[in-house]
Amino acid sequence: MSTRHLTRRDLSETAMYAITGITGKVGGAVARALLAAGQPVRAVVRDVARARSWAERGCEVVTAGMDDAASLTAAFEGTQGVFILPPSEFDPLPGFPEARAVIDAVRGALQSAAPGKVVCLSTIGAQAAETNLLTQRTLLEQALRDLPMPVTFLRPAWFMENAAWDVAPARDTGVIPSFLQPLDKAVPMVATADVGRAAAELLQQSWRGVRIVELEGPQRVSPNDLAAAFAQVLGRPVRAEEVARESWDALFRSQGMKEPLPRMRMLDGFNEGWIAFEGEDAGIVKGEVELETVLRGLVSEAG
Ligand SMILES: NC(=O)c1ccc[n+]([C@@H]2O[C@H](COP(=O)([O-])OP(=O)(O)OC[C@H]3O[C@@H](n4cnc5c(N)ncnc54)[C@H](OP(=O)(O)O)[C@@H]3O)[C@@H](O)[C@H]2O)c1
Repeated sequence: MSTRHLTRRDLSETAMYAITGITGKVGGAVARALLAAGQPVRAVVRDVARARSWAERGCEVVTAGMDDAASLTAAFEGTQGVFILPPSEFDPLPGFPEARAVIDAVRGALQSAAPGKVVCLSTIGAQAAETNLLTQRTLLEQALRDLPMPVTFLRPAWFMENAAWDVAPARDTGVIPSFLQPLDKAVPMVATADVGRAAAELLQQSWRGVRIVELEGPQRVSPNDLAAAFAQVLGRPVRAEEVARESWDALFRSQGMKEPLPRMRMLDGFNEGWIAFEGEDAGIVKGEVELETVLRGLVSEAG
C-alpha cells in the first residue's frame, strides 16, 4: 500500500464549501448544484433537526445563527468558499437593526475564519440611494466590500417564487392583486433554481477583489404576463388588478406590519424605475427557468 502526504493542492480540492440558508429555496439550490458537481458541502443550519436530508446526502452539518459571530466563525473555518444568504426581514425596525446584527456577525466571522472566497446573495437595486427595504442589502454590500478575500455580490431580480402569494387568489377568484404597476410594465424576474445554480457556479470560479453579478430569467415579466401564465397553468381566466397606492399603508398594517414604509418604498422603486439593474443589459446573466415552470410547481405545492 502506498501512502503520500497531502499537498496544498489536495487540501484545496477537498476543502468544503459552507452554505448558509441551505434549508431554504436559494441555499438548497446552491447545495444541490455543488453536490452534483462532486463538491463537498458543509450545511450551515440554525436547527439541526432541519438538516437531516442534507446529512443523508453526505453534507457535513454545523449549527449557526446568522447573527452569531462565534458559531458562524466555526462554520466558516477551513472552507474554500462560503455562500452567505442574509435572512429576509420584511418588517424591519427603523435603522434596520436586524440586518445590522447579521452584517456585523457575518463580517466578523469572515474576518476570523478567512475562507478562500465568498459569494454573498444581494439583490437587484442594492445600489439605490433611496432608503427602502433593500437598503438592508446596500448596508451588507458596503460592510463586506473591503474584506481581504475575493467577494462576489450576486444581485438577482425579483424572485418568480414571490408569486406563491398569488396562487390562491388566481385559482379561487381569477384576480391577482398587483403592487407592481402599471400592469403592462415588464419587470426582471428569476427563478430561485437559477439563482442557486448561478451562485454555485460563481463559488467554483477564481477571481480577485470584489465583483457584482446581476441575474435575471429568460424573459422580463409584467403583472399582465404573470396573470396570463397563471391562466395557462390553471386552465382558467386570470387577470391582474392594481392595488391602489393610497391603500397600501392601511392594508399592510392590517396584515400585521408595524413599519410598512420601507416595503412601500421598495415597491415604489420598482414601479418608478429607481430599483433596477445597475449594469448594462448586455452584462446581465440570464437564467433558463421559465415562469410557467415555477408557477406549475407553486400550484402543485399549494395542493
Ligand atoms: N424575494 C425576492 O424577490 C428576492 C429578490 C432578490 C434577493 N432576495 C433575497 O433572497 C433571500 C431569501 O432567499 P430564499 O427565498 O431562499 O429564502 P427562504 O426560502 O425563506 O430561506 C431562508 C433561509 O434562511 C435561513 N434563516 C433565516 N433566518 C435565519 C437566521 N436568523 N439564522 C440562520 N438561518 C436563518 C432559513 O432557515 P430555517 O429553515 O431554519 O428557517 C432558510 O434556510 C433574502 O436574502 C432576500 O433578500 C429575494
